[in-house]
Amino acid sequence: MKRIRKAIFPVAGLGTRFLPATKAMPKEMLTVVDRPLIQHVVDEARQAGIEHLIFITGRNKGVIEDHFDFQYELEDTLSERGKKGELDALSRDLPGPGTTSFTRQQKPLGLGHAVWCARELVGNEPFALLLPDVLVQNERGCLAQMIDAYSALNTASNIIAVEEVAPELVHQYGVVGVGKTEGKTFQITSMVEKPKREDAPSNLSITGRYILQPEIFDILATQPKGAGGEIQLTDAMLTLSKSQQFHGLKFDGRSFDCGSKIGFLTANIAYALKRKDLAPALRDELKGLLG
Ligand code: G1P
Repeated sequence: MKRIRKAIFPVAGLGTRFLPATKAMPKEMLTVVDRPLIQHVVDEARQAGIEHLIFITGRNKGVIEDHFDFQYELEDTLSERGKKGELDALSRDLPGPGTTSFTRQQKPLGLGHAVWCARELVGNEPFALLLPDVLVQNERGCLAQMIDAYSALNTASNIIAVEEVAPELVHQYGVVGVGKTEGKTFQITSMVEKPKREDAPSNLSITGRYILQPEIFDILATQPKGAGGEIQLTDAMLTLSKSQQFHGLKFDGRSFDCGSKIGFLTANIAYALKRKDLAPALRDELKGLLG
């Protein structure tokens, strides 16, 4: 099994689509059931064996750093009150000392720029990238599936999680072209960020999970602005694909685009319906609401 030790989480976005909820609180701290979005994505990374979590933050994101630290007052109070279950749960979620890093993007120049900001923290090794807007619900997480696929390949490839989207929605995503296919994995022949429907090479969209080789950083260093006037990761990956292999993985599981209100609301229901303590009552409530 090949190891991927480090993962990047870009969390600098403004979250304008969720105002006023995100006026004083980062969008990554919005909760799906009782866990912040960023916690769900960190859970996925830790399940996949990631050892070091790198957060690309910005102004007003300090609470994310606090979330991944001890909260002495809270923990003292829980301990005094004998709340052992809650304390154990908090301690299970807490990354170990020295296993998190935070750096600021400073300027909102795009996803490619955010990833480039992690270059010193990642160094010269392959790494994972998880976009916290996207949740993938599956017992074996999306990133763990990607590391399985990565390990099965002989070459040091780059892996991107992909899924089918309706053709009228391809303009919202990065889209890949499909080459030689083996099971759920295929060679990527092209990549376009936010293509018009007629220019899209397929209807397979990039889902917000990547395993990338460190050579991407040199390309990002000089990457010109692309779609939306932003420095796009997809453009840099296209350049890297001239010298390295890229594979797509059609992962198992359902994704939720929690950057959209419908995706976020649906994720809350879907995740709650998987919880034994909530599902029966929620089902009844939903039946009532839907008449
Ligand atoms: C980013 C990526 C895009 C990908 C999407 C997945 O776009 O640039 O390739 O398909 O995430 O959510 P964004 O949603 O930041 O515009």
